[in-house]
Amino acid sequence: MATLQQRKTNEFTKVMGVGAYRPEKRVSNEEIIQWIDSSDEWIRQRTGIVTRQRADADTSVIDMAEGAARNALENAGISADQLGAVIVSTVSHPFATPSASAKLADRLGATPAAAYDISAACAGYCYGIAQADALVHSGQVEYALVVGAEKLSDFIDNHERTISFLLGDGAGAVVIGPSDTPGIGPTVWGSDGSKYDAIGMTHSLLDIRELSLAAQADGGASVGSILETEAQLWPTMRQDGQTVFRWAVWEMAKVAQRALDAAGVSAADLAAFIPHQANMRIIDEMVKQLGVPENVVVARDIADSGNTSAASIPLATHRLLQENPELSGGLALQIGFGAGLVFAAQVIVLP
Ligand SMILES: CC(C)(COP(=O)(O)OP(=O)(O)OC[C@H]1O[C@@H](n2cnc3c(N)ncnc32)[C@H](O)[C@@H]1OP(=O)(O)O)[C@@H](O)C(=O)NCCC(=O)NCCS
Repeated sequence: MATLQQRKTNEFTKVMGVGAYRPEKRVSNEEIIQWIDSSDEWIRQRTGIVTRQRADADTSVIDMAEGAARNALENAGISADQLGAVIVSTVSHPFATPSASAKLADRLGATPAAAYDISAACAGYCYGIAQADALVHSGQVEYALVVGAEKLSDFIDNHERTISFLLGDGAGAVVIGPSDTPGIGPTVWGSDGSKYDAIGMTHSLLDIRELSLAAQADGGASVGSILETEAQLWPTMRQDGQTVFRWAVWEMAKVAQRALDAAGVSAADLAAFIPHQANMRIIDEMVKQLGVPENVVVARDIADSGNTSAASIPLATHRLLQENPELSGGLALQIGFGAGLVFAAQVIVLP
């Protein structure tokens, strides 16, 4: 009988380079409060957000993903044709199919790399790292690109008060490849679908189809004419802020601690802590619960980026390394959490 060939594995993996795409437009709290009953002071105190970055109408999720990916490839010193997998984490690519990643791979010249999207909201980037780590570790691919890219502004209702004021747009990317020494700790991840309704879209595309069928049955009336507001037609984000806040503060610090334990390190060994940029108060509370020492640099990109979901951790990482290049080679704990509810955390060596 012939002997089955199995791939040679790579013992260790690492993050080789980080890239970012930040849209130029800034939306201030002053602008936000034109639309909702709120104040600059309330938003700053309760969330830490001063401005958020948002893309213009002509810029797509794929455009931003491409900008971040090119930057990451350059910083990693890898050419697109060396990529075996292109993974895009997003919840705002406006097509259920085809994927953003297939188009991105083509634009980069990475074809025929495997390409797929991950839908894990604000945990999407850390899910992508788990996947890329496993793919490279197993020898299935030599290099993988992971991008978190979001144009959340396409899915907000400006007059909505539970989440719209938090959200921003952007993209961050990393290249994962083989390493001589350990560069990515074990991922601690999971989900809690019992809180499926805590954060997400107001309604599904099937609801829109029902409405258009109803309009047709009504003698061809336009869908708009049977709706009171545009927001009834177009799905937008909303959340039960307190449920998400409590879950994030109580449960996610435990997940972050498990990621430290799995990596065999403690908070005192970290150079940086890069949590999902959801709310400055959540970040502060996690720092407290984990006992992160003062000399550890904590990512606080949320102040002028807002919550960019899957893009938030790689964007924050990119900024941290630009502002503190001495962190390179140090350990960073990263944790993403959000709609699903889903979560993922791991310790990495910063490139
Ligand atoms: C959304 C969030 C900032 C709201 O803050 P909060 O402190 O929980 O606010 P609450 O819902 O308890 O409301 C407190 C008060 O603020 C008011 N309020 C709520 N939203 C407001 C807004 N956007 N502007 C001004 N006031 C607001 C409420 O009406 C309430 O007023 P009252 O005390 O007079 O009744 C907070 O819950 C949060 O950040 N949650 C987690 C969000 C998150 O991370 N989501 C993404 C996960 S990936």
